[in-house]
Amino acid sequence: MHFAFDRAERGNMCGIVAYIGKKDATPILINGLKRLLYRGYDSFGFAVMNEKNNIDYFKKPGRLDEEEKNLSKMGLEGATGISQSRWATHGEPNQVNAHPHVDCREEIALVHNGIIENYATLKAWLKEHGHKFRSDTDTEVIAHLIEEHNNGDLLKAVQKALSLVEGTYGLGIISKHEPNTLIGARKGSPLAVGVVKNGEYILASDPAAIIEHTKKVIYLDDGEVVKLTRKGMHITNLENKKVQKQAQEIQWDLEQIEKTGFDHFMLKEIFEQPQTIENAIRGRALINENRIQLGGVSDWLDFLTNVDRVVFLACGTSWHAGLIGEYLFEHIAGIPSEVEYASEFRYKSVPIDTRTAYFVISQSGETADTLESLRKIKQGGAKVFGIVNVVGSSITRETDAGVYLHAGPEIGVASTKAFTSQVTVLSQLAILLGVRRGKAVPKEVRSRIDALVKIPLQVQEILDQNEKIKQLAQKYYKFNNFLYLGRGFNFPTALEGALKLKEISYIHAEGYPAAEMKHGPIALIDENMPVVVVATDTEDVIYQKVVSNIEEVKARSGNIIAIATEGNESIKDLVTEVIYVPKTNGYLTPLLNVIPLQLLAYHIAVIRGCDVDKPRNLAKAVSVE
Ligand code: F6R
Repeated sequence: MHFAFDRAERGNMCGIVAYIGKKDATPILINGLKRLLYRGYDSFGFAVMNEKNNIDYFKKPGRLDEEEKNLSKMGLEGATGISQSRWATHGEPNQVNAHPHVDCREEIALVHNGIIENYATLKAWLKEHGHKFRSDTDTEVIAHLIEEHNNGDLLKAVQKALSLVEGTYGLGIISKHEPNTLIGARKGSPLAVGVVKNGEYILASDPAAIIEHTKKVIYLDDGEVVKLTRKGMHITNLENKKVQKQAQEIQWDLEQIEKTGFDHFMLKEIFEQPQTIENAIRGRALINENRIQLGGVSDWLDFLTNVDRVVFLACGTSWHAGLIGEYLFEHIAGIPSEVEYASEFRYKSVPIDTRTAYFVISQSGETADTLESLRKIKQGGAKVFGIVNVVGSSITRETDAGVYLHAGPEIGVASTKAFTSQVTVLSQLAILLGVRRGKAVPKEVRSRIDALVKIPLQVQEILDQNEKIKQLAQKYYKFNNFLYLGRGFNFPTALEGALKLKEISYIHAEGYPAAEMKHGPIALIDENMPVVVVATDTEDVIYQKVVSNIEEVKARSGNIIAIATEGNESIKDLVTEVIYVPKTNGYLTPLLNVIPLQLLAYHIAVIRGCDVDKPRNLAKAVSVE
């Protein structure tokens, strides 16, 4: 069983494709889903109306593109069908939880992208009314709700069912009772109808699955339901009022659609951060109640509050997030904390301590060293918690509990949005435990939560400076060595900035705690060594010390790129370049400061002609030692 998580999350992380027309649906669905794999790929499934007007379906965990052999054996034939490639949010990615989901009699089948927030209440109600559930998913309730309200008119039954549902959905639905109908519905999750010709349609969560058949699409709006038949199309709202819509031409080519217009997945993911940070906060940072709620660890709060110390274990970028976690837990929650490289920890003769809370941090949930460290801790009898992005991954299955990032699939090999989500989750954990340990007064908690909920907009303000950062990259891309300096919460930010640059541009870059410079790296500084200094915490005692480090670099003809807080005019006289970021509470500064560092690394790598999304020698999930 993977660990519990906060149900109040929303997600648009699956791909759905459906077809109605005269052609064989299955190959169209398979090709369409392959185009959507960048959205999610932990399981997949198909349902097709056969010639006897029964629904045949096939579903399976795994990646669709790695299952060609199984696909040829599916034996699904018919000209109406639905399909989905899933990125799990509720229930681990196994066969039962894969889509399509069906009602009790297997007469209605549907695929869903989104999250049904009130599914537990609806499920209990439906069970009382005799419905039998097969899966752990939120989606299955919709199939049973339609069954419950099906009085011979599928469209009306869907409208009624959806009026009872809270949350988000993009849906494709077929029913044995109306074998010549395909229904789509949308709220909060994208859905478009591709018009191949009158009577032939492709319904998909994403135009990438449509474009090879037609460029003519109708984008559904929230609250709209479309009924597609071989005679035509009929769009209504949930109250059955007819809606008129115009078809539009898709302007982008396929590659642009997958990257939503960005040149690379990495850039797309950098720009997604206002949304992904919001996803990591939503339903967790409760501003009106002045508290943090983390559903995934709610059963463990007494244990976590009373531990003697915390140890974070991770690799790479996730390890940097762990380092920030150490600063956060010590500063905000007063818990002694340590960070270990998982690769070192797994071979160390280290006593496992049952009064320590161990946190493993991982985007993929599959990193071999992190997983082995987790196993070692469990063997030692201690509790392990996960902070993970990929739902149902190995780490989530083996940890005692944990918190999901809900950042969506991260495809660029260099981690960006997962990092900021990790730090967002760690910040909230620190506040939560700080309150429980009596370390924070309500006023302090309020100012921290206030600052946290402003972060997504502030990240957007930084992203708006993309052009300026690109110009900076033009100026600096030829250098072969970079030094990154930061202190306190932003020492790990400096490490992360350096890692981003080296892994995608192949420029040698090192991160250091600024004051360590004089213990060695200062010997390297000359006009050929640009130094990136994170110097935002102007009110902190260490700010003046960072300024002294800047002076030392300047005295040795070093070029300095400073990340500074808006309004800090005096820094301009000390450095070569300044990138300003908005002001926030000190503990959140890494979330803002890392954004220009990600962009700088990205643009330098692009100018140098590097393969940004797939840097040489690197894999997305390091599942071998
Ligand atoms: C760097 C990067 C890697 C990963 C590391 C851990 O950009 O992506 O350093 O952070 O391999 O991976 P996860 O977080 O999947 O355990």
